[in-house]
Amino acid sequence: MRVTVSRKAHFNAAHRLYRKDWSMEKNQDVFGKCNNPNFHGHNYELIVSVTGVVDKETGYVIDTKILSDLIKEHIEEAFDHKNLNEDVLEFKDLNPTAEHIAYVIWNKLRVLIDVDKELEITLYETPRNFVTYKGL
Ligand code: NI
Repeated sequence: MRVTVSRKAHFNAAHRLYRKDWSMEKNQDVFGKCNNPNFHGHNYELIVSVTGVVDKETGYVIDTKILSDLIKEHIEEAFDHKNLNEDVLEFKDLNPTAEHIAYVIWNKLRVLIDVDKELEITLYETPRNFVTYKGL
């Protein structure tokens, strides 16, 4: 029996969407208000989902306490109250769009979760805009 176990988390962070190799005008055309040089913030809501076989002895796919601790230590500590462009190494040369943030989160957690389990990241940048990444 395979089940998906999900844990919700959140972090507040600032970002600016732009490319260093584009002119201010082109950045403005493509990214609009998100290109504000003084940055802007979001309340990111994160859902981390792990799918796998239910262990016969424990009845768990993954202990949610362990999952919660991994998210706290490796994602919230790294991103919460940070300026993603300036404070987080992964975004030094990667535009911190919701797509790329979900990708970075997936890669950080993938190495920490058993390979026989599937990992899916859903990231809400606003209550209405969200992205999903599962490593494909
Ligand atoms: Ni934004």
